[in-house]
Amino acid sequence: ADKSVQVKLVLLGEAAVGKSSVVLRFVNNEFQPNKEPTIGAAFLTQKCRLEDRILRYEIWDTAGQERFHSLAPMYYRNAQAAVVVYDVTKASSLEKAKSWVKELQRQANPNIVIALAGNKVDLVQSASSSGDASDSVSEEDPDDATETGGEAPAPSGGPESLRQVPGEEAQAYATEAGLLFFETSAKTGEGIVEIFTEIAKKIPIE
Ligand code: GTP
Ligand code: MG
Repeated sequence: ADKSVQVKLVLLGEAAVGKSSVVLRFVNNEFQPNKEPTIGAAFLTQKCRLEDRILRYEIWDTAGQERFHSLAPMYYRNAQAAVVVYDVTKASSLEKAKSWVKELQRQANPNIVIALAGNKVDLVQSASSSGDASDSVSEEDPDDATETGGEAPAPSGGPESLRQVPGEEAQAYATEAGLLFFETSAKTGEGIVEIFTEIAKKIPIE
């Protein structure tokens, strides 16, 4: 008999931030570079093993396009957990994530466990060394297209310049709002299992 506890989880967030890709990585350990937009919502399941128990996630992967917004309550109603996703290279997607969190905190189950995921972190990491902690005081780099030869610093459009949401800023918001927080990459797998495992640990044992 399958005694695993079922946990209903919903993914929310702006279009194209990578919700479906995060789920595909978690469920199939795959990544598709040209994933098509979700229409309506998709349903997937995956088990999550903790030291003392196994949970079975029932995952509703919602569509981020604005025309589907009104469907969302059907999917977050009764959800025990939510993953709200934004894209670290797109500041407006964090604002959208914050509005989803507000909606959840007003309308969803009061005990819902919410995690904030800053996805596509692979795009802001240099291939060689993972960036130091010095939080980029990134100048607004006004399209300096002039490539003079010589000492050549970072390649133009390099990883650091792509980041629009500093990790510290999102972490501070998450702490204040009572959310779990992770930076993730559906492409490399970074942080993906961690989100679902940390959520699982916060789901009360019945
Ligand atoms: P909707 O279903 O329209 O709401 O979009 P979504 O949030 O499900 O985004 P989706 O997973 O379809 O990903 C959108 C695009 O971003 C696809 O081309 C993905 O391959 C790409 N993508 C998703 N996650 C990552 C990531 O972590 N890193 C990189 N580099 N690309 C990603
Ligand atoms: Mg999708």
